[in-house]
Amino acid sequence: MRSPKDFYRPLAVGAPAPLREIPAVPSRMIHFFPPSNARMVAKVPDLAPKVDVLLANLEDGVPAADKEAARAGLVEVGQSWSTPGTQLWTRVNSLDSPWGLDDLVTAVLEVGHVLDVVMIPKVEGPEDIHYVDRLLAQLEAKAALRKPILIHAILETAAGVARVEEICAASPRLQGLSLGPADLAANRRMKTTRVGGGHPGYLVRQDPSSDGTDRATYQQDLWHYTIARMVDACVMNGIHPYYGPFGDIRDTMACEDQFRNAFLLGCVGAWSLHPAQIPIAKKVFSPSRDDVRHARRVVEAMGDGTGAVLLDGRMEDDASVKQCHVILSTARALAARDPELADLYGIAS
Ligand code: GLV
Ligand code: MG
Repeated sequence: MRSPKDFYRPLAVGAPAPLREIPAVPSRMIHFFPPSNARMVAKVPDLAPKVDVLLANLEDGVPAADKEAARAGLVEVGQSWSTPGTQLWTRVNSLDSPWGLDDLVTAVLEVGHVLDVVMIPKVEGPEDIHYVDRLLAQLEAKAALRKPILIHAILETAAGVARVEEICAASPRLQGLSLGPADLAANRRMKTTRVGGGHPGYLVRQDPSSDGTDRATYQQDLWHYTIARMVDACVMNGIHPYYGPFGDIRDTMACEDQFRNAFLLGCVGAWSLHPAQIPIAKKVFSPSRDDVRHARRVVEAMGDGTGAVLLDGRMEDDASVKQCHVILSTARALAARDPELADLYGIAS
C-alpha cells in the first residue's frame, strides 16, 4: 500500500499527474462498436455525435482472427477523431490474454491523445489495476501525453465482486465500474445462458391460499445484489457505476426496465450494443421533466436545505432535498451537452 501522500504522484517520470476528481461528464450510453469491421469504422463520424461515449471493442465479441484488425481499426478511428464532445474509450483484451499488452501499448502510443478511458475486463483485484496503472504511466510518458488516461474496470468475476472496494480504491485513475453480467454469470457458475437481464426461473411465488386459487409469481432481479454493491463501492471512492450489456436486442422493453433499475439504484449509464439501445439509455439515464420540476420545487421550498416542509401532502426534509440536488446536478450536466434536454428542463444550455 502506497503512502497517501504519494497517491497523486505520477507513476513514471514525465507522465501527467493523476486527476484529483473524476469528471462527472454525461456517459449515459457507452456505445460498443467492432473496429475490425470497416463498414462500422466508416459509420463512426455519423455515430459519434449521437452518443456520450463511443467504445472501440477489442475484447469478447471480436474473433481471435480479427484481433489485430480491431486494434488497427482503433488506431484509424483515433487518428481521425473529430468529435470532441463525445468521449472515446476502448475495451482492451484481458490482462492474461495474448493481446492485452499490445492493445494497451498501441492504444496509448498511437491514439492516447484522444483516448479518455481504457476499459479493463475480468479484473480480479487491485493488483490488476496497479499493473495497468504503472504501465499506462510509462506509456503516457513515452507518448508525452498531457492528460492521464482513466481506467474503467468490468466487474465480471466472483473475485472482483468480493474485492470490489479494493479495486475501486486501487488508483486515482479509476473512472468507474461496469457490471459484466455475462462473464460474471459464467464465472460464478450461475445456471443461465444469457447476456444480462432477468431469468423467468428466478422468482418468488405467492403463498398457497385456502381457496386453491392460482398463486402469482414475481420474477426477481438476478443482478440486484451486485449492482447495489458496485454502486456503494463506487460512490465511496468518487467514481461512477454503470450497468453493462443487455443482449436481447429485440426486447427493448426489458432492456429499458433493466437500465431503469440500474439508474434508480445509482448507476449513471449502461452499454449500448446496438443503435436500438441508444435512445433507451438516453431516455432512462436522463431524469424526466417531472422529476426535474419536482426537484426544483423541493429545493425552492426547503430554503436553506434544513428542516421539513409539506409539499403535495408529502414530507420533504434535509435528506429528500439532497436527493433532489442529485437530480438537478445530473440535469444540469446533461443540459450542458444536449440542447433538447436544456429546453425540456428549462435550463439555459
Ligand atoms: C461483459 O463483458 C459481460 O461479460 O457481461
Ligand atoms: Mg465480459
